[in-house]
This record gives sequence, C-alpha cells and structure tokens, in this order.
Amino acid sequence: MTDRYGVIGHPVAHSKSPVIHQMFARQTGQDISYQAFDVAPEDLESALERFAGEGIRGLNVTVPHKSEISQYVDVLTGRARLAGAVNTIIMRENGKMEGDNTDGVGLVSDLSDDLGFTIEDARILILGAGGAARGIVPALLKDIPANLLVANRTVEKARGIASAFSELGSISACSFDELGEQHFDLVINATSAGLGGEVPPFPTAILDPDTICYDLSYAMADTPFVSWAKKNGASEAYQGWGMLVRQAAESFYLWRDVRPDIHPVRRHLP
Ligand code: ATR
Repeated sequence: MTDRYGVIGHPVAHSKSPVIHQMFARQTGQDISYQAFDVAPEDLESALERFAGEGIRGLNVTVPHKSEISQYVDVLTGRARLAGAVNTIIMRENGKMEGDNTDGVGLVSDLSDDLGFTIEDARILILGAGGAARGIVPALLKDIPANLLVANRTVEKARGIASAFSELGSISACSFDELGEQHFDLVINATSAGLGGEVPPFPTAILDPDTICYDLSYAMADTPFVSWAKKNGASEAYQGWGMLVRQAAESFYLWRDVRPDIHPVRRHLP
C-alpha cells in the first residue's frame, strides 16, 4: 500500500517539497505519495488530528507553523526541543507523533559537503533572531566555530538566543549598528525581510572579499540578500536551495530509513 506524506504550511502552494520527495521516492523505489496541505494557523491542531486519523505516515512543517506545532506533538527530539521548532513529524507505530528538526543538519551539510566551507574556527554572523535562526544555531555550534554572533533589529531577541545556547559554544549578540567593521568568514541571512523584497540596513563593512554569504531563503532569481551581498563585495553568495534539499533528505531518511542521493535533485532546482 502507498504510504502517505505531505507538507503543511500557509501558504504552501509554492513549496518545492512535493517535487523533491517524489524525486527521492522514484530514485529509491519507495512507494509513497507526498502532497502539499494548506493549513491555516487556527486549524493546526484539528488538521493534525485528522491527518493522524487518516493514517498519514509523516509530515514536513513549514512557515508559519514550525514553532506552534511543538505543543501538539507527543514527543520532541533533543534537537527539535533545542531549536524550539519542528520541521518534520514522524508518525510512530504506537500512534505517537514525534517532532524533529532537520533544518540545522541540512544547512551544515550543505555548507560543508557542497560548498566546502569549514565551520570549525570560522567567524560566523547570523542576521535575524526568529525561528529560522534558532533552528540552525545548535547545529552550527556543534562544529565549534570561533564565534557565532547573532545580530537582530530587535536586539533583545538576539540576546535571548545567545543566552539560551551559551552552554553549547561561543555565541554572542548585538544590534545591526553594533556590527561596526567586524569581519566574518560566513554571513547567514535568517531574517524574513526578503519575503517583502527588502534588505535590512546591514552595514556593508561586514563583507570582505573572503566572506561567504548564505541566505536561508530561496527564489527563482537572486533573493534581495544575495543581490545585496554580490553588489557589496562578498566572495560568494548562495540561496538556501541546497539546505532545502538536504533537510528534505534527512526527513526522508527518518521516515523511510533510506538515504536518497541529493545531487540529481539539487541539479533539478535553480
Ligand atoms: P522566521 O521563522 O522566518 O525566523 P520570525 O520568527 O518571525 O520568522 O523571525 C523573523 C526575523 O526576521 C526576525 O529576526 C525579524 O527581526 P525582529 O526580531 O526585529 O522582528 C527579522 N525581520 C523581518 N523583517 C525585517 C526587516 N524588515 N528588517 C529587519 N529584520 C527583519
């Protein structure tokens, strides 16, 4: 029998997850279906109950449900609890819903395996301090950067992240203004400003010819942050397509116990 999976978000029509998982399934010979489900925030709890009742085997979770959904699952993995966000739900045989988070591992493997970036001893800046930033901090600290600095428009939120994760490694916080002329090996955009076509007032002095920029967002053309980085002298600037494929591969592995080859799928996307 075909096992059912899907992604829930609002809106969700733009999601590439169905294409990615259908490619993984064909490639590995797994008999699954995968659909996008538009679920409004007020319907989240009842939709989950309905999916569980219908025998769905797993779900990906995207904007805006990643934090909210934590309260409706039965069990959270350690990394989902740390991140305060769930992007993957696994329906266990005993009927329990397990919430996990594969975003951090997706980013780290894209940086190290595809882009050849070494996190160990690197100076890393994260712009933004919302759910997306929280989701990647534990995985980045695990690889022991020299320092992880979180800068945010609302500096209190950046400080909150720095204190929440201080036991995991060297992490600090500041406002955009306080960035001054510090230099970084890697600058990650985790703000959602690009969704509105904007780039916040990041000081261009944070970029030098060796700085790699990475946007957690992705689009068919350059995102506003990637355009900004290229224009202001970053050495390389990437969108989050690689992370998207790799977090999906981790979810697929959690559900099916089979590791898909990410490369043909990655080549299929921009
Ligand atoms: P997500 O789950 O995508 O991280 P979020 O939790 O709402 O969404 O966080 C959005 C992040 O983008 C925050 O860091 C937010 O800054 P504030 O904490 O100051 O609100 C940041 N952000 C969104 N729009 C922005 C803008 N126009 N300028 C600067 N930062 C922005």
